Amino acid sequence: MNGGVKIVMAVTLAILLLGIAASLAGVAAAQPTVDEAREVFQTLGCTSCHMQGGSAKPFDEIVSLFQQWGGQYATIDEAIQKEVKYFGGQTFDSYDKLMETMAMNVGKTMDDPDIQLLYEFFLNLFESGAGTPTATTPTTTETTGQTTTTTNAATTPTTSPVETTTTEASGPGVGVIAASGVVIALILIAAAYILSKK
Ligand code: HEC
Repeated sequence: MNGGVKIVMAVTLAILLLGIAASLAGVAAAQPTVDEAREVFQTLGCTSCHMQGGSAKPFDEIVSLFQQWGGQYATIDEAIQKEVKYFGGQTFDSYDKLMETMAMNVGKTMDDPDIQLLYEFFLNLFESGAGTPTATTPTTTETTGQTTTTTNAATTPTTSPVETTTTEASGPGVGVIAASGVVIALILIAAAYILSKK
């Protein structure tokens, strides 16, 4: 019986450590910040068209548009169909189709990690916009410690997604912690049962 108890203790400890590791991984795999996404956007060469005075909208404008569309449309596909007019007024059936074309514009495909990063980033912006952006923006500004709030319109789109990112990151983390909590509780009950039979 003593050996059995030792095994139970070892398993309990292992699960506990796994739970902690998993929740840390969840935090580490957080969505990119606006600055990271902007950098990838530049590195990939999206800015050859998407720039001030270019043939398409600059990055920061796309950021605020996606948040805005999140509040206006039920799905991202609908927003893209109605709002995006490509060269000559061509439209896209879906967000996927749009991003496929954008990837091709810089000689990439959808399985490129940088393209995937931007794909997720814009999608998250849309989803975050579905909430109440006006209520969350002031909170973010306080958290990030930025003093320029309402005076400069350009800072608003930059700060909001940062807040979004943290929300997204804490989501899976909490889920993992809760799930491992349940598993640990079950293991402890099993251990208690075995000990009581000693
Ligand atoms: C050849 C020029 C060109 C390149 C390169 C390009 N785009 Fe676009 N993109 C456009 C045009 C034109 C539109 C249509 C709307 C507009 O004027 O912004 C568009 C629209 C978009 C939209 C929808 C929002 C909007 O602006 O209407 C996103 C998102 C987007 N592009 C992302 C990207 C990404 C990410 C890259 C780099 C991988 C990229 N684009 C590269 C020309 C380009």
